[in-house]
Amino acid sequence: MKQQITLKYTEKPTETDFAKYNEFAAKNWGKSNDSAEDAAKNFFDKNKSVVTAYINYELVGLCFIHFRTTNFNGKNISFAGIGGVVTHKEFRHKGIATKLLQEAIQKMQDKVVDIALLATDIPRLGKLYSIVGFVPLKNTYVFDDINDVRKPDPGGMIAPICSPEIYSEIVNSPEALFVGKSAF
Ligand SMILES: CC(C)(COP(=O)(O)OP(=O)(O)OC[C@H]1O[C@@H](n2cnc3c(N)ncnc32)[C@H](O)[C@@H]1OP(=O)(O)O)[C@@H](O)C(=O)NCCC(=O)NCCS
Repeated sequence: MKQQITLKYTEKPTETDFAKYNEFAAKNWGKSNDSAEDAAKNFFDKNKSVVTAYINYELVGLCFIHFRTTNFNGKNISFAGIGGVVTHKEFRHKGIATKLLQEAIQKMQDKVVDIALLATDIPRLGKLYSIVGFVPLKNTYVFDDINDVRKPDPGGMIAPICSPEIYSEIVNSPEALFVGKSAF
């Protein structure tokens, strides 16, 4: 029998929620390439929403959404960064990550953001994100770390949400898009 996947969106997770998500990610992600020190410098934005997935009330996946604004070529743009996509080790290749991403994109459409961004190991996982419309950026986006050091987030991908015009401007520009403080 096919197991029913339920999705939930939480606009402002509490500290208790974040503790649950961190515990889930620690169990199911395995070793990350970032050192703990680098991760603390680069990923410190707590102002994020979350989509969670459940099977029989058990948490089986999550992804964070960072809603932000920035300026590109003199234009104010609104965008959403996706980060922390992780699914339960025993429930992989069942479409859970795809469903989480589709729900995240639905929320971005509701909020009328112009574009969506994320960073990944493109040769390995680019296909997962291409299923929901992301393409690799020619020039990956940049962010400021906790010490205001500007850094590229390798493996940047972009998808149009509500503005195909801003999407093509960024995709075709040699300029790197600045996304603000903290990576996703
Ligand atoms: C990456 C991850 C989130 C995928 O979750 P999932 O629920 O298994 O993904 P889906 O079932 O929606 O996958 C859809 C398609 O994406 C691609 N895909 C998914 N995981 C992949 C992987 N590890 N390697 C290569 N392609 C993959 C496949 O084409 C897959 O279709 P298939 O199952 O028919 O082969 C999961 O493996 C995970 O949590 N990994 C550890 C954390 C991580 O690396 N997160 C990504 C950070 S950018």
